[in-house]
Amino acid sequence: MTTARPTALVTGASAGIGAAFAELLAQEGHDLILVARRAERLNELAERLTKQHGATCTVLTADLTDPGAPDELMASIRERGLTVDVLINNAGMSGSSAFADTPWSELAGEIQLMITAVTQLAHLVVPDMLARGHGRIINLSSLAAFAPPGESLLYTGIKTYVLGMSQALDMELKPHGVHVTALCPGFTHSEFHDVMGTREAASHLPSIMWQRPEAVAREGWTAVNRGKPVCVPGMFNKVASHAMRPVPFRAQYVLGRNLNPFKN
Ligand SMILES: NC(=O)c1ccc[n+]([C@@H]2O[C@H](COP(=O)([O-])OP(=O)(O)OC[C@H]3O[C@@H](n4cnc5c(N)ncnc54)[C@H](OP(=O)(O)O)[C@@H]3O)[C@@H](O)[C@H]2O)c1
Repeated sequence: MTTARPTALVTGASAGIGAAFAELLAQEGHDLILVARRAERLNELAERLTKQHGATCTVLTADLTDPGAPDELMASIRERGLTVDVLINNAGMSGSSAFADTPWSELAGEIQLMITAVTQLAHLVVPDMLARGHGRIINLSSLAAFAPPGESLLYTGIKTYVLGMSQALDMELKPHGVHVTALCPGFTHSEFHDVMGTREAASHLPSIMWQRPEAVAREGWTAVNRGKPVCVPGMFNKVASHAMRPVPFRAQYVLGRNLNPFKN
């Protein structure tokens, strides 16, 4: 059932960039499905967005490191008669301990949260989007996808996967009205560095390197609507990403689409 207002599913809506996306999409006339682990935060946000923007908000708590979570979420969404017009695949974090010292359960959780759940949620919502001939998916990658890999961290590799997967998905789906964008922020004011335990080091970085989550969400939303498969928000980050990568994204995308010898 399609409601009059389109519905956006935002993962990691309890803080930072996800909460900013929820606010922006509510302002722009969407109903919301808000997902994260902290129910209280989500309920407060839902109440505020309903009051301020008239958005109908559904709160679904889930731990996306749980391999069963994406299917359970979709089952709850379908039970409520909701369809997803916009997917913001945002929930994420970075571990900071050395690879060899980190229990496998933690590493597997990072992969599940930021690779498998991201991919599976897209896979779950795409068939309905294709049937309607319209959909928008934003996957949170990172400026880290363009940076030299950090020693012992899975994060760079994970966000590089998200970047590549989003571009491939966009190539496949855009002709059918479904746009996919890899949103690649640099340092963004949020709880990310508190969770990672790097707040002290991050606080010494110059302010030119930082963006507000609202600005990141706004630029990502504009990019996906304009059909841009990659969005690096903010002038500092754009310059940094170009400096770190000699072939521009646009040229890579066009080359990738046109020179693939395995294309059907
Ligand atoms: N901040 C930055 O500098 C930066 C830069 C580049 C990319 N990013 C990316 O942007 C995205 C959002 O990060 P942020 O900066 O907004 O960080 P944040 O403020 O820490 O927010 C992270 C969100 O993800 C949710 N989350 C974390 N683990 C989860 C789990 N196991 N299950 C469900 N939800 C989970 C958190 O909710 P609960 O704790 O309530 O579950 C929270 O809502 C991430 O993918 C991150 O990698 C951030």
